[in-house]
Amino acid sequence: CGIVGYIGHREAYSIIIKGLHRLEYRGYDSAGISIYNDGIKVYKKAGKVSALEEFAKNLPVTGTIGMGHTRWATHGAPSDRNSHPHASNNRKLTIIHNGIIENYATIKETLLAKGHVFKSDTDTEVLIHLVEDIATATGMDLKEAVRIALNKVIGAYAIVIMSEDDPNLLIAARKGSPMVIGVGEGEYFIASDATPIVEYTKNVIYLNDNEIAYLTREELLIKNIDNTVQTPYIQELDLKLEMLEKGGYDHFMLKEIYEQPRSIRDCLRGRIYPQQGNVQLGGIKEYADKLRNLDRIIIVACGTSWHAGLVGEYLIEEYARIPVEVEYASEFRYRNPIITEKDLVIAISQSGETADTMAAIELAKEKGATIFGVCNVVGASIPRITHAGVYTHAGPEIGVASTKAFTSQVTVLTLMAFYMAQQRGAITQSKLIEYLTELDAIPTLIEKALKTNDEIKEIAAKFKDSRNCLFLGRGSSFPVALEGALKLKEISYIHAEGYPAAEMKHGPIALIDTEMPVVFIATKHSSYEKVISNIQEVKARGGRVIAIVSEGDTAVKDMADYVIEIPQTGEAFVPLLATIPLQLLSYHIAVMRGCNVDQPRNLAKSVTVE
Ligand code: G6P
Repeated sequence: CGIVGYIGHREAYSIIIKGLHRLEYRGYDSAGISIYNDGIKVYKKAGKVSALEEFAKNLPVTGTIGMGHTRWATHGAPSDRNSHPHASNNRKLTIIHNGIIENYATIKETLLAKGHVFKSDTDTEVLIHLVEDIATATGMDLKEAVRIALNKVIGAYAIVIMSEDDPNLLIAARKGSPMVIGVGEGEYFIASDATPIVEYTKNVIYLNDNEIAYLTREELLIKNIDNTVQTPYIQELDLKLEMLEKGGYDHFMLKEIYEQPRSIRDCLRGRIYPQQGNVQLGGIKEYADKLRNLDRIIIVACGTSWHAGLVGEYLIEEYARIPVEVEYASEFRYRNPIITEKDLVIAISQSGETADTMAAIELAKEKGATIFGVCNVVGASIPRITHAGVYTHAGPEIGVASTKAFTSQVTVLTLMAFYMAQQRGAITQSKLIEYLTELDAIPTLIEKALKTNDEIKEIAAKFKDSRNCLFLGRGSSFPVALEGALKLKEISYIHAEGYPAAEMKHGPIALIDTEMPVVFIATKHSSYEKVISNIQEVKARGGRVIAIVSEGDTAVKDMADYVIEIPQTGEAFVPLLATIPLQLLSYHIAVMRGCNVDQPRNLAKSVTVE
C-alpha cells in the first residue's frame, strides 16, 4: 500500500492525489483521503486513485493538512468500507496504514467488549480504535496514546494519524514498512517513498523502524517507541522528476524496457575495467576475505528477483566455483534452514522492502551468516539491514512488471560472479579481460536487440488470443524462460509456464497441440543441439514455435514458425539479451488484449506483507 501525508500552507488535496498516483504501483484496489476542512472529511472509494478523484470532484477538499492512501488488500476485500483512512470509535481520529497488525483479532475482541463499533473488516481500524481507547482510559494526549498503542501491537506498519481536535498535528510511525519525510519551509511531506515528495523538496528523512514522528507546521520531533528523542538525519534526494514520467512512451513498462541500455551502463559504471581485467565492487570490498573462505552461498528473493537469483546461481557456480542455493524467501524463512557463520546470503530485491525477503535476512543474520543485498531503491529497508551490498542503479521502476530492474540484478550478479572468481583465483586474467570486454558491450547489443520490436509486434498479433503458452530454455536460459512466462501471465493474464527444455517431455508435452505457442531460447551455446531436439519434439506434435536465436542462425530457422534474432554473445551474457524480446512480446500481447500493462490486476510492485 502507499501512503502520503501533508502539513503546511499549501492545498493538501492536490499534493496528496498527485502523490497517490505516483504510489499507485504499490497497490491500486482502493484509495482514500482525509482532509481537515472544518472538521475531518474522509473520502474513499474502491478502485484506482482516479475513481477517488472523480468521487471527490464536487466535494469540499480545501485544507492544508491531510493524508491519503492507495491500497493493496490484505484484510477484507477491496471495497469502499475497507478502504483507508479508517476512523476511531468517536470518529475524531483517522489513520492510514501500510502493513499488517498480526494481533488485531485479540485487540478487537477486547474493544468490542467495551462497546466499540467497527465499520470495516480491517486490522487498521482496530489500531485506531485502540489509540482512542488508550487516550480515553488514561487521559493521556494523543501523541503518548499512539506510542503506547504501538507498543501493544505485533506486526508491521507505516501509519499516519490525524486528529480532529488538533489540525496542526500529523503523527507518523514505522516498523517494517518504509516511510520518508520531506522537509520543506513550514511544511512537511510524508510518503512511502520519495516519489510524491521530489517536486517539493530534496531534503528527506528516512524514518527508522520503531520511530514515531510528530509533525506540526513549526517543527518535527522524532521519538523512539520507547520514548527517547531521536536526532533526524536529513539526506539530499538523488531523484529527478523526469525519471517518474513516461517521457513520450505509451506505458512505463515500454519506457523501462527501452531504458535498459542506459540502466545497465549505469550498473556497470566504475565497476569494470576490461583492459585490466578488473572488477571493483566498492559495496562489498570489505568482505573480500570472507569471499575467499566461503563454503556456500544462499540466494533469497521473491518473484522476478528470484529468477535473477537463479541466473546468479549458474554464473557464480560456473565462474567462481562456489556452491549456490537459491530459495524463495517465503519458504526459506519457515523451514528451519541450516545456516552457519560461514555462509553468505545474498538477498535480491528491487524495492528493498519485500516482507518475506526481509524476514529471511533477519533469520540468516540471527544464525550468524553474512548478508549482502542487491537492491534498486537506495536507502530502502533491505540495504539498511544487510552487512554490505551492491545497488543495481536501474533508476525508479514504475511498471509493476519488472523489466529493467531484472536485467540490472542479473548484471550485478554477473559482476559478483566475476568479482568472487577474481578474489578466489578461480579465473585467469586473460579470461577476465575477455569476459569483461564482452560485458562492457552488452548495453550496445541490447540496443540492437530492441530493434526487433516491430517483428515482435507482428508475432504478438498472431498469439494474442492464446490461452496458454510454454517458455523453454536450458542452462541459464531456463530462468530466462521462467521470467518470460511470468511477464506474460502478469500483464496479459495468459496462463504461461517456464520449464527447463529437457523437462518438457516429463509433463508439459501433454499440453502441446496446434494451438499451443512454445517459446524457446535457442541461442548458439553449449546446449544448442539439445534444444534443437526439444524443438523437434514440439514440432512433431504440431506446436507452434517462437524461437529466440543467435544472429545468423539457420538450423532453428528451418524448424521454428517464428524466429527472433539477438546479437551473438558469450554464454554468460545470454540472459541479459534473451530477456529483451520476451519482455517486448509480453508487452505487445498485453496491449493488444487491452490489458492495463503498468498496473495489472491484483498485483502490487512492492509487497510489504508476508
Ligand atoms: C512483487 C512484484 C514483483 C517482484 C516481487 C519481488 O510480487 O510484483 O514484480 O518481483 O514483488 O519484489 P522485490 O522488490 O523484492 O524485488
